Amino acid sequence: MLKIILVAGARPNFIKIAPILRTIDRDYSIKIQSIIVHTGQHYDYEMSQTFFDNLEIKHPDYYLGVGSSSHAVQTAQIMLAFEEICLKERPDLVIVVGDVNSTVACALVAKKLGIRVAHVEAGLRSHDLTMPEEINRMVTDVLSDFLFVSERSGIINLKKEGKPDSAIHFVGNVMVDTLYFELARLDMTDPKAQQPAEPFAVLTLHRPSNVDDEEKFREIIRALAIIAAELPIYFPVHPRTRQRLEAMGSLGVTNNIHLLPPLPYQAFLRLWKDAVLVLTDSGGLQEETTTLGIPCLTLRENTERPATIEEGTNILAGTTASGILAAYESFKTSGGKRGRIPELWDGKAAERILTVLAEHYAIR
Ligand code: UD1
Repeated sequence: MLKIILVAGARPNFIKIAPILRTIDRDYSIKIQSIIVHTGQHYDYEMSQTFFDNLEIKHPDYYLGVGSSSHAVQTAQIMLAFEEICLKERPDLVIVVGDVNSTVACALVAKKLGIRVAHVEAGLRSHDLTMPEEINRMVTDVLSDFLFVSERSGIINLKKEGKPDSAIHFVGNVMVDTLYFELARLDMTDPKAQQPAEPFAVLTLHRPSNVDDEEKFREIIRALAIIAAELPIYFPVHPRTRQRLEAMGSLGVTNNIHLLPPLPYQAFLRLWKDAVLVLTDSGGLQEETTTLGIPCLTLRENTERPATIEEGTNILAGTTASGILAAYESFKTSGGKRGRIPELWDGKAAERILTVLAEHYAIR
């Protein structure tokens, strides 16, 4: 029996491991033993437990409870606790997803113990080393034996960095697997399914570079307030952002910017799928809006997900008020960017990942 540890620590990780676990349970339950390690990087009910319930992920086998701290402390605490688990369980493979601190911490521990590492969402690059996620992506890819790539740019980046073709597997996007799966079972009869009557936009914002710097944050909010005067904005607020908002006063958040708590997966999907526009600095939402064909303005200077710009509905609006407003004006005149769904974003990425692993470990 192949023993696999799947690591998840932060909200987007739970969304990414769900289809992998579902595929193991459905097609490989006799051949693969899956062990879930939740590092506890995200720990609030709305950021963590609700995703396990909502996406029907089995209860974690290990909960490390590391919580929030500086990058070094958080990464180190995950490493200390994860090493013990690896020594006890001796897995054949550790699967890490995405680009959070839990991803790099567990990849590093596993590799040094001689355990193979698979990285889901490998090869994405913003080429901006001021982002902690870019450092996490690069280091994780250096350590990984299986590089599961979500878009073609990932193949090019990994080859440039000298990775052998045999390690690179273009499988598509597990976040899109979850999106299609959850969309199909969205309960529209739920009384909470009622949407705002008028056209609306949805906003998410949590990058340290956008919200930790007060001047930058004020500038973004200034632009958003102008947009909200024409198009109401619904804004589920990440804990980091809420702390900043509270520390700085209301920052001129207007009545037309509706602040919401972090939403469970299905409640959030139900909301944004009907938005006329999404404004975000998230990585995943850039991909999800491209998949459903909803115009997206990304409040960043760069993206590690160029397929969403080159093929999808995404526009880089930057983080200055003038840049955001110019992008919004072009949305108004054009009615929003049209796009197509990138290759292999078809809901079957997890199946392809398991096929690669099954062939490699000869468990078919
Ligand atoms: C992390 C990831 C980021 C990802 C995001 C998704 C890293 C370096 N960053 O950023 O890539 O896009 O998750 O949400 O791994 N907090 C709570 N409750 C929680 C979690 C966090 O209150 O459940 C607060 C804490 O005060 C913490 C802050 O939010 O200091 C930030 O949390 P942290 O895990 O450090 O990073 P994120 O900003 O969530």
